[in-house]
Amino acid sequence: MKLAVCPGSFDPVTVGHLDIIRRAAEMFDEVVVLVMVNVNKHPVFTQDERVHFIRRVTADLPNVRVDSDSGLLADYVRRCGACAIVKGLRAVTDFESEFQMALINQKLCPEVNTVFLNTKAEYMYLSSSVVRQIAGFRGDISEFIPPEILGDVVERLIPPEGKEKKA
Ligand code: PNS
Repeated sequence: MKLAVCPGSFDPVTVGHLDIIRRAAEMFDEVVVLVMVNVNKHPVFTQDERVHFIRRVTADLPNVRVDSDSGLLADYVRRCGACAIVKGLRAVTDFESEFQMALINQKLCPEVNTVFLNTKAEYMYLSSSVVRQIAGFRGDISEFIPPEILGDVVERLIPPEGKEKKA
């Protein structure tokens, strides 16, 4: 029974994330998508909202479940007996920080390997922060967010007409 953990901020989950989750689900017996705290980011969506969004877009994947945790990733993977941490890699710019995190997690939990899945070329540019920014300027984000959650994400991110955000 090979269990993998796919951690991230998912603020919110994008079609790029979903592609990585689907591919991980084909490689491992079970995948836990784990919503975590990234100390360098200030999420717009609550942890609960992010978990529910991911549950809705992975409902068709029987070997995927969703959880959240506010601690160290290394502690979580050890607790749940995972054999791998799966992360998507978009570009060279992701590499340095992802490699550093993989080395830290290897130090803290040597029995678990980090596996990097390259993003599909069409999602190279995509990130949750880009999506949030486009929506903040009332741009169209329908290509970037899974259709099941698009309405709710748009409602939360796009400022209502006539009520511009104050600086
Ligand atoms: O989607 P992100 O923001 O790139 O995901 C990064 C995340 C949340 C996986 C990373 O910040 C993380 O592992 N946070 C939990 C705390 C931790 O274990 N940090 C690494 C050791 S300092």
